[in-house]
Amino acid sequence: MNSKEIIENVFWVGAQDFKRRLFDSLVPTPDGTSYNAYLIKGSQKTVLIDTVDPTMSEVLLQNLVSLNITKIDFIISNHAEQDHSGSIPFLLRQYPEAKVVTNEKCKDQLTHLLNINPEKIITIKDNETLDLGNFTLRFIFAPWVHWPETMFTYLQEPNILFSCDFLGSHFASTDIFSKDLDEILPQFKLYYAEIMMPYRAQIKSHLQKLDTIKPAIIAPSHGPIHLLPSRPISAYKQWASDNVKNETVLMYVSMHGSTEKMANHLLSELTRQGIKVHLFELSSTDIGKLASALVDAGSLIFGGPTVVNGLHPLLAYAAYLVSMLKPKARLITMFGSYGWAQKMQEQLLNILSSTKAEVIPGVFCKGCPNNESMQALSNLATEISHRHKSFGQESF
Ligand SMILES: Cc1cc2nc3c(=O)[nH]c(=O)nc-3n(C[C@H](O)[C@H](O)[C@H](O)COP(=O)(O)O)c2cc1C
Repeated sequence: MNSKEIIENVFWVGAQDFKRRLFDSLVPTPDGTSYNAYLIKGSQKTVLIDTVDPTMSEVLLQNLVSLNITKIDFIISNHAEQDHSGSIPFLLRQYPEAKVVTNEKCKDQLTHLLNINPEKIITIKDNETLDLGNFTLRFIFAPWVHWPETMFTYLQEPNILFSCDFLGSHFASTDIFSKDLDEILPQFKLYYAEIMMPYRAQIKSHLQKLDTIKPAIIAPSHGPIHLLPSRPISAYKQWASDNVKNETVLMYVSMHGSTEKMANHLLSELTRQGIKVHLFELSSTDIGKLASALVDAGSLIFGGPTVVNGLHPLLAYAAYLVSMLKPKARLITMFGSYGWAQKMQEQLLNILSSTKAEVIPGVFCKGCPNNESMQALSNLATEISHRHKSFGQESF
């Protein structure tokens, strides 16, 4: 896809990857992704903000050639990860006079990840500016969204924020602009869940910076450019806040149907109590959908049988994902069936040991659940419902 003008002398020159189906060997990308690079033609200096995944270096080069770019003064690296900076070595060969501009931490990463000659890198400090003639860029450090070196680049006069992964989405499209977040909400939320959610504290602090500068346009490094940034910003504010919704994520796996009977009973009891249940049978679950459901949920429920003295591996995977993504749920509980000795709970709690959520005792039954087990599950649903109500009216 060809370059596109955002405003006069500011261009999108990235690449759309319609085929990509998995990111970081972890994140499903059912709608592909884009690697957004931006070119700014100042009256005195020409700047490229970020590059593209190295698999698409030639696409970026063609976009630059089509704009008759024969000289680049600075390549700004907002983030050292290869999908943003992986084409820098290639570009430095095409534009040997270019210097890379970034922060000290990113310089360290670029030299180790991409073998970039440190002498080609100019380091800047937080809030430092770069004069392009008729444009001025300001660098705003934004650590931990989602690496320690991540930063934003702010084009001051036309008020455009190049936010790197922050407010991004994995979504390939010939339309690089978004005016209506609803059109990309599933991809936008999935991106938040899988990449940003572990860093809620840092997100809150970076959102305050955005409140100060009030960008007119936000141009992330994946997915569409936000022409109306207030909606994506308020979505991040809601998701990063401590408020939870009256929703639960019920994840389970079952080999012979006993745990599944328990899951179905809990599902109907919780629903009867007015709780929205996101049910995931883990042998057929889209991990991206599971991650997205974790964003707002007030509680998390894990169900599985005891297998070889421990957890079913699929439940272990889901629990590990939860512990890694750090959702804000305030309550965790569990249930399951066993043959002779229940052993899944201890392992599950070990995996979840770093979560701050309160753990309430689960329900376990030997073999197929009987009336007593079903009653215990009904009681558990009532307990969860009471706790959800105590989370506060503002949460609902
Ligand atoms: C491969 C395998 C390993 C098992 N290992 C254990 C075990 O270590 N301890 C135990 O109490 N039950 C064990 N069981 C029995 C199951 O936990 C029991 O059948 C349970 O009811 C299965 O629940 P499900 O129908 O939800 O799969 C094992 C079953 C299978 C198939």
